[in-house]
Amino acid sequence: MNIKSLKTYFFTELQTIQEDSEIESFFFILTEFLHNLKRIDVSLHPDFEVSETDLEKWKTIISELKTEKPIQYITGEAWFYGLRFEVNENTLIPRPETEELVEWIVESQKSKVDYLSIQKSNNLTILDIGTGSGCIPITLKKEIPSAFVSAIDISEKALEMARKNAINNKVEINFIHQNILETESLDEKYDIIVSNPPYVRNLEKQEIKKNVLDYEPHLALFVHDSDALLFYRKIAQLAFKILAPNGKLFFEINQYLGKETVELIEQLGFNNIELRKDFMGNDRMICCGL
Ligand SMILES: C[S@@+](CC[C@H](N)C(=O)[O-])C[C@H]1O[C@@H](n2cnc3c(N)ncnc32)[C@H](O)[C@@H]1O
Repeated sequence: MNIKSLKTYFFTELQTIQEDSEIESFFFILTEFLHNLKRIDVSLHPDFEVSETDLEKWKTIISELKTEKPIQYITGEAWFYGLRFEVNENTLIPRPETEELVEWIVESQKSKVDYLSIQKSNNLTILDIGTGSGCIPITLKKEIPSAFVSAIDISEKALEMARKNAINNKVEINFIHQNILETESLDEKYDIIVSNPPYVRNLEKQEIKKNVLDYEPHLALFVHDSDALLFYRKIAQLAFKILAPNGKLFFEINQYLGKETVELIEQLGFNNIELRKDFMGNDRMICCGL
């Protein structure tokens, strides 16, 4: 079968499950993944012949897509801030909202008058809490190479993937296997503490798509409805002890709990609290200091 006919077949098979734009995006992710063919190559070479063996691979993937398995778990990779991250069912798939949080942190350093000295000195210390694939600390280390970057997760399997991603992206991160809810203090002080902790309440489950609910790690996503801000309270209390003078705490937050999260952080003694929206216009991230 040639690639042009394969495209028609791919669309026909998935049409009842996905929107056309999504199917098209999957198709080109897969032409690149399986055949190293970009969109332009497919247009230029519609007669490119797909071997029987490769056709079997396409069929297997189509049946996985029909179960709404995320394409990133099928190819085993996701892109974040222009970097490639390996992902599996133990790691959350990095989201564009989180890229915006990283962008904010990077900008906050660049806007400092002494950014050049930060670039050169070895003093800036960064801690990411709940690191998953390692997308936040690895990207920050790439953007601010002189920083010392540490990252915590409770999941040893997620950390395994994060370590691999650090090696693949050629950066050194100090990964720590730890339950943050049972951490009273840490030995180091940090200039930047960042976290995208679990924040989805059970009552929001009905809004969550099947591909997320059935495949992404619940440990990374959900909190009890009765104490939805548990991680924010715990991390802010910890940050109170381990944030360096003039340090900053950055959070990704639940879009429905912007006001409540700001109030909590204020009550815990933080100042200069800024709440920002994401590209969808939802309350999504907070920066504050002491
Ligand atoms: C929402 S995910 C964020 C992953 C990644 N930072 C990102 O932005 O894609 C939350 C992460 O927190 C971790 N986590 C959950 N409970 C934790 C705990 N008690 N202590 C440390 N990490 C925890 C999960 O394993 C998961 O990797």
